Amino acid sequence: MSLTPCRIGVLVSGGGTNLQSIIDHIHLGECKATVECVISNVPDVYALTRAQQASIPQHVVSHKKYGSRADFEKALINVLQTHDVDVVVLAGFMRVLENTFISHFPGRILNIHPSLLPKYPGLHTHQRALESGDSSHGCSVHFATMELDGGPVILQASVPVLEDDTAEILAKRVLEKEHIIYPKCVQWLCEGTIHYQNGDAYYKDKKLTAPLQL
Ligand code: GRF
Repeated sequence: MSLTPCRIGVLVSGGGTNLQSIIDHIHLGECKATVECVISNVPDVYALTRAQQASIPQHVVSHKKYGSRADFEKALINVLQTHDVDVVVLAGFMRVLENTFISHFPGRILNIHPSLLPKYPGLHTHQRALESGDSSHGCSVHFATMELDGGPVILQASVPVLEDDTAEILAKRVLEKEHIIYPKCVQWLCEGTIHYQNGDAYYKDKKLTAPLQL
């Protein structure tokens, strides 16, 4: 089912380079969507500056202000509802989302993770790939579910791990790929090329038994 024009809400916690790549792809006409709002759980992060520069409404909803995850998530939902959002894009958003939020946007939440899932869910993915002596590493776009970094993976991109790599150098190489696969998946969800159903990802109405590869 096509959602175009697709109204997106982006959740961030940091620099916002993935947000920027989505904004840029929309401006280039490669992603038929509008970013209706950007919400950060941390004040004064650069992602909010990027939103301001693109004249996108910005909000800070600090998790520290709420007595429970559910209350924090209800506050996020309220802001997204005021912008009548269709799709939620997690772009460097560093809070674990639970049932209150996930069940409110069934099959309409995307996340990007800097590893070749199911390898290295969680944090410090680049360091862990180096410590394991992996020869390749990468990033994954998946539907967000209750399982942290565990929802069905849609698209991945791999990069080589080079001899003198540090976690920082590797992170930069992976981020370049993130900026390609994330706008593509946002576009696919908006135009109905992909959808989520009963715990699985579908591409052109065919269940994905393995992630697509860039
Ligand atoms: C990215 O590697 C993303 O995969 C991870 O956080 C990093 C920062 O993203 N979740 P951004 O520059 O804030 O978009």
